Amino acid sequence: MGLKKNPNNMNQKIFIKTFGCQMNEYDSNRIFDSVKKIGFKKAKNYEEANCYLINTCHIRNKAKEKVYHEIGRIKKIFRTKKKPLVIIAGCVAQAENEEMIKREPYIDLVIGPQSYHKINNMILNYTENMKKIEETEFDAVSKFKYLSEIKNESAKVSSFLTIQEGCDKFCHFCVVPFTRGPEYSRPFKQIIDEAKYLADNGVKEIILLGQNVNSYEYEGHRLSSLLVEIEKIPEIKRIRYTTSHPKDMTEDLIDVYKFSKKLMPLVHLPIQSGSDKILDLMNRKHTVRDYNKIFDKLKNINPNIVFSSDFIIGYPGEKEEDFKETLNLINRIKFINSYSFIFSPRPGTVAANLQLIDKKISMERLEIIQNQLFENQISVNRSLENKILNVLVENLTEDKTKVFGRSEYMTSVVFNGKKEDIGKVMSVKIYKSNRTTLFGKVSKNSNQMVA
Ligand code: SAM
Ligand code: SF4
Ligand code: F3S
Repeated sequence: MGLKKNPNNMNQKIFIKTFGCQMNEYDSNRIFDSVKKIGFKKAKNYEEANCYLINTCHIRNKAKEKVYHEIGRIKKIFRTKKKPLVIIAGCVAQAENEEMIKREPYIDLVIGPQSYHKINNMILNYTENMKKIEETEFDAVSKFKYLSEIKNESAKVSSFLTIQEGCDKFCHFCVVPFTRGPEYSRPFKQIIDEAKYLADNGVKEIILLGQNVNSYEYEGHRLSSLLVEIEKIPEIKRIRYTTSHPKDMTEDLIDVYKFSKKLMPLVHLPIQSGSDKILDLMNRKHTVRDYNKIFDKLKNINPNIVFSSDFIIGYPGEKEEDFKETLNLINRIKFINSYSFIFSPRPGTVAANLQLIDKKISMERLEIIQNQLFENQISVNRSLENKILNVLVENLTEDKTKVFGRSEYMTSVVFNGKKEDIGKVMSVKIYKSNRTTLFGKVSKNSNQMVA
């Protein structure tokens, strides 16, 4: 075992590999904030680590296999060295719990997403008595109480802030209610304190996170109240939130777009399908008409608002006409920055055992949808050429010759900035684009600003 007995005095190094959504990214950073307290530093690569943590995702198929595959790689790397401490965290850990240790004895600890407040003790106990354990209780209250007591030191220019965890919606295809447990909203003050702390440490953009971020509810506070309060923090220049559910796009939230100066005009609102029949089969609890109404209301408030979404293609029962309705919706809304996936049956969900549609048909439909989404993206990006955009500078490019930032619509922008520009919102004139990136030059003339 590569881990020494008293980590407080030792040069312990942890390598964290993260799969899945932004909530896992946030959690991985906070896990590192936690283990720092018992002496861990970040390992730059696998080889120098004596603790290896995989933060797993269970949303689509092969998730479990990916984890075992990853362990196979570590085993190979450490064949001739001391074995590292191997920890499995995240949604696969929650779903599989002690089964993982039984199947793969190379695993030492298994910890579910709502037990991260226990990670330091688990590691210390393990180094004392070498007893393998799993912790998969749902205890969001203790998790966030603990995380708010240790400082969020993983701040970058743009930082995530989890405000809500879990889900009570039980869409028939989705494992999240089982892996993240029931909906829980963090206390309002705890979130505002974390936002202020991030601002004091150089953060300029906060992305509020939750599996159902717009169902946030704490003692009468809603997502809208959080947005209003965070807007008051002077150092914070931009605010975003993800992922939201159409059913929770309430009037108070829509109203914030009327006066907010910091809420970005990209709304990520997954719809999954453009067919009411499929939405009903999925148990989504809203119709396409409901969705269109939200879109129209927001467009009326600000015509520059643009939507992005998630789509599931080939859900059991999806006929050609249902698929066409999804395509029609994509053409109407002109989504950008969207994701599309083929339906993947998840164990334990209602849709797990439904009759699958032909794989070849699903693949063909996915290709058509993705081409359409790509076309939209390319034409939107092209329409921005010769325009001046507001870009929040996040970092130097890898070769350090330029800077990299994001437009208000989250699109990557590369331009001729300097290291000192990191953290600033700059006016950039776009001269070239492709599907994923805009290329520009710093501009002094802000008159043609579009976004
Ligand atoms: N809460 C969000 C919502 O209501 O849309 C979704 C969160 S989920 C972590 C992210 C995306 O994964 C979903 O929007 C959906 O498109 C996709 N997804 C979830 N379960 C899936 C499954 N069984 N097969 C394929 N894609 C799936
Ligand atoms: Fe999953 Fe989102 Fe549905 Fe909840 S609302 S079950 S997280 S898809
Ligand atoms: Fe995956 Fe869990 Fe997120 S299943 S998408 S890591 S909530």
